[in-house]
Amino acid sequence: MTTTTLPGNPAADSGGIYVIAAHPHWRDSRVNRRMLAAARAVPGVEVNDLYGSYPDFAIDVEAEQARLAKARLVVLVHPIQWYSMPALQKLWVDDVLTYGWAYGPGGTALQGKDFWLVATTGSPEPSYHPQSYHRYFFDAFLPPYEQTAALCGMRFLPPLVFYGARSADEAEVTAHVDTYAQRLGSYPDWPEIEEIDACIACPVPEADRPAESDDMGKVVASTFHSAMSRGIAAMSAANEPKNDDNHREGTA
Ligand SMILES: Cc1cc2nc3c(=O)[nH]c(=O)nc-3n(C[C@H](O)[C@H](O)[C@H](O)COP(=O)(O)O)c2cc1C
Repeated sequence: MTTTTLPGNPAADSGGIYVIAAHPHWRDSRVNRRMLAAARAVPGVEVNDLYGSYPDFAIDVEAEQARLAKARLVVLVHPIQWYSMPALQKLWVDDVLTYGWAYGPGGTALQGKDFWLVATTGSPEPSYHPQSYHRYFFDAFLPPYEQTAALCGMRFLPPLVFYGARSADEAEVTAHVDTYAQRLGSYPDWPEIEEIDACIACPVPEADRPAESDDMGKVVASTFHSAMSRGIAAMSAANEPKNDDNHREGTA
């Protein structure tokens, strides 16, 4: 489900903010749920709750690309799951950031935009350490995000990570949500933003991905995806209880 509040912050005049929020179980969320509500209250921000918008995982690629095209800041918001993003967020990346549109020859739609990752972890910050159970500093899990942005010509802004979302106290959660909303409301007037380098160019030579096989790949992928989506939708309809007590909360 997407929502847009009326313009009225600096970003609205400079191209807008598109927040893509993904949480597979909003009703269990303590932090992301409050960030979703906070983003919706910031003027000029378009917010998409992916699991609410696409419960059948059938992403509207055209609509997503149109939203991205008009944004200046693209924000991915989600809990970290297995050192990465939730499944529907990953599918969104796979489906929407297409060759020839987001990257590769002619793929310039996102060039010059800013990309901001806003993530929560269940584990506290000290656990992301070579001597602790996650074995790596959290930064070690960021290159796939950073390089995805770079391949599309987007500048990777410093991520906002909230550690220990399950154990943090109420004051810490509130402070984090306030910081997040304040950042959305003040973009692009962030104190450090001028010092962040523009993205280096990452052109993909046409020879690395011949058009013919790519076109064929696209046809196969899109046929497979539509068939899967239809199958999943049919299965969900068949399994849907009459009185749906277990209905997932799409919006928070
Ligand atoms: C399937 C799954 C995988 C998870 N993987 C990680 C992980 O790799 N690292 C971590 O710190 N927390 C992990 N968590 C915990 C979530 O990140 C944590 O519950 C979430 O950030 C809390 O935010 P919320 O209150 O909005 O739900 C995982 C949770 C689930 C359900």
